[in-house]
Amino acid sequence: MSINPFWMTNRLSLFPESTRARGDSLFVAGHSLASLADGRLTPLYVYDRATLDLAVAEYQSALRAYYPGESHITYAGKAFLCKAIAAWTQTHDLMVDCTGEGEIGIAVAGGVPREKILVHGVNKSTADLKSAFREAGTIVVDNLTELNNIHVILSEAKNPHSVEQDSSIAPAGLPQSDISLWLRLLPGVAVSTHHAHTQTGQHDSKFGMTREEIIEAAKFCQENNLPLNGIHFHQGSNFRDPEPLIPAIDLALDIAKEIGFNGEWHFCPGGGWGVAYHEDELPNPSIESYARGIAEAVIEGCKKRGLDLPVLHLEPGRSLVARAGVALYRVGAIKQRGAKIWILTDGGMADNPRFALYGARYSCLPVEGLNREINAKVSIAGPYCESGDIVIEDLPMPELKEGELIAIPVAGAYHLSMSSNYNGARRPEVLILDEGKVEVMLSRETVDDLLRRDP
Ligand SMILES: Cc1ncc(COP(=O)(O)O)c(C=O)c1O
Repeated sequence: MSINPFWMTNRLSLFPESTRARGDSLFVAGHSLASLADGRLTPLYVYDRATLDLAVAEYQSALRAYYPGESHITYAGKAFLCKAIAAWTQTHDLMVDCTGEGEIGIAVAGGVPREKILVHGVNKSTADLKSAFREAGTIVVDNLTELNNIHVILSEAKNPHSVEQDSSIAPAGLPQSDISLWLRLLPGVAVSTHHAHTQTGQHDSKFGMTREEIIEAAKFCQENNLPLNGIHFHQGSNFRDPEPLIPAIDLALDIAKEIGFNGEWHFCPGGGWGVAYHEDELPNPSIESYARGIAEAVIEGCKKRGLDLPVLHLEPGRSLVARAGVALYRVGAIKQRGAKIWILTDGGMADNPRFALYGARYSCLPVEGLNREINAKVSIAGPYCESGDIVIEDLPMPELKEGELIAIPVAGAYHLSMSSNYNGARRPEVLILDEGKVEVMLSRETVDDLLRRDP
């Protein structure tokens, strides 16, 4: 039996929990990745259900251990949402954060009940808000204009005689009467992420309301009898230093005190906890210490201010689904240009725009021939007509051959949800893997799909 080289063993721990190197081939949940790709088109995405479940269990056990009040985990659907993932959230009693009408529609089709749907969005349209009133339990209000729009929609629905009633809001009685409103705070404190484009909490961010705006919004809610019962912030995505959460939590609790929240009120310090994408970034940031730090800050902060403990919500996306996903690409042409070796594959910025958007880092393993020694640094790029269509730059790899498969780990978040049809790309097939079972979560798009919107 061959011994896996050190570099390979290290990279393997980026892959889903159930990944094994058997002989010199990669297996996930007992399925050979090479066999899965046989007879299917690549790029092909696979998700390991055991890894999804494990991440939820880590959050749930940390909250149980460190937070004595009621707590919930809200899956941020923007990381990756389809009906099967929406259905999976309900096997763990998760809430689902939906950005607008589209994600709400997917969550509903996947069986997420009203009280579990929470609606985000920085500039929600009237259609987004109406869909939220029909289908959701909570709207997180981003700004004062939106709050005013909510007030108008609610007044129109409640008072059918003053204006033409919109039956799309309240199709059966007044289902919107059990909706809750939370206010989204701009804390003015950013978390440290690898790129400015993944920060949202800094003072000049487009997201949320300043302290003064929040107080104005709360007053508006009181004056107009709007169902305000929570406060939210989100400082950025893919951070691993929890320090900036503390001043933001303190500010949110100061504001909660000023608003006068008591009894059952809700507090959500967002999501954004990071994951390791590259072996240099291992070990993975601890979910337990993240959740514990938040729980302790909230407990202490409430005690200091004489506030009732809120229902605490954590809102992770990436750290629930990223590691569960693997992207499989097939190598085509290989080019040497100066010192650079380009490995050209059939996947790239259309299924994963993260390098093009903000220089995201990745690692990679060949699907077979794992026991080869590394012999060069290679750059992996896609087939699309952009020089920024890069997946990985300068990664030490063994010599790759035309036609072989490569596997990119940590592909489960913000790939497919940000994918496009650039150059007529058809979005990939997505499988979910259990031991002994393979199910299609999303089928591969076809040329007919590309033409469907084209009259
Ligand atoms: C409001 C909100 N909540 C939660 C998240 C989830 O972030 P992450 O997937 O990094 O955990 C995001 C991501 O941008 C967000 O905007």
